[in-house]
Amino acid sequence: MTSEEVEAEIKRQRSRKRKRGRRHRQKQQQKSGDFSSEQTVKAIKNSKSKSSSSSSSADKCSTKTNTAASSFLDKMKARLSGGHFRMINEKLYTCTGEEALNYFREDPTLFNVYHAGYQEQMSHWPEEPVYIITKWLKDRSPSLIVADFGCGDARLARNVTNKVFSLDLISHDPSVIACDMSNTPLDSSSIDVAIFCLSLMGTNYSSFIQEAYRVLKPSGWLLIAEVKSRFDPNTGGADLNKFLRAVCELGFSCVSKDFSNKMFILLHFKKKAKEKQKGKEIEWPELKPCLYKRR
Ligand SMILES: C[S@@+](CC[C@H](N)C(=O)[O-])C[C@H]1O[C@@H](n2cnc3c(N)ncnc32)[C@H](O)[C@@H]1O
Repeated sequence: MTSEEVEAEIKRQRSRKRKRGRRHRQKQQQKSGDFSSEQTVKAIKNSKSKSSSSSSSADKCSTKTNTAASSFLDKMKARLSGGHFRMINEKLYTCTGEEALNYFREDPTLFNVYHAGYQEQMSHWPEEPVYIITKWLKDRSPSLIVADFGCGDARLARNVTNKVFSLDLISHDPSVIACDMSNTPLDSSSIDVAIFCLSLMGTNYSSFIQEAYRVLKPSGWLLIAEVKSRFDPNTGGADLNKFLRAVCELGFSCVSKDFSNKMFILLHFKKKAKEKQKGKEIEWPELKPCLYKRR
């Protein structure tokens, strides 16, 4: 064999090995459902060490082989961080607000992993609800005081001139109040507009809406944007009428329901001027988690 033929044979063998490895990993992943955080961290570390060893032998491999290997590693890393995001996302939808607060407090870097993955998902949506809500606010008086429950990267506050109390589980910015939104430090009857933009994530979501009721002034606005599939009874989603009834029984009137967007629904309520009836048990429907697909 000539040296060219030997090199070509080595490349063919490497390619076969990579394919076998990929098929094996896919099978393992299907068996276990998804990556655990430990597996993800290990795999990222492995991929890093592989990448450094591959660079040390760069002189032996052709440029083409290196490019293919690095694009494979990039794909692998993207897949791992996507898996990590989906795991954190599922956790937030299946625990209480307090548990979510403790989860992020133990490792605040998970909040960044979650938000990087969330932004990636949002980049595939035709329109983000936060921008529609921003526009709605801009069309009203800038003197309205706003509370953004589950503000994420506090984009809303950055795009309006209103006073906005941005609330989330972790604060990387002094303007964001870190808390569980079922228990905020805001004064009662101090807020004109309470916003939940894709943030009714905890299993105790009703206590988030109750907290909004407490802090809102009489006739204050409650805006809820939620993923459409969470209210699709054909796919195990909640009955929207049941949800609307529960919010109204708490002490709100439904002003508008907007289904025009493909990905989310947008609901506008107003807090009733009169005190709600006390002691009446409200039946809140369970909201199914919004689990993002692997892309
Ligand atoms: C899907 S993101 C939406 C972020 C932002 N509202 C937007 O539209 O870009 C939901 C946010 O709600 C926050 N969140 C979930 N449960 C919470 C809780 N109990 N208290 C405070 N924030 C919470 C999450 O940390 C996350 O930042």
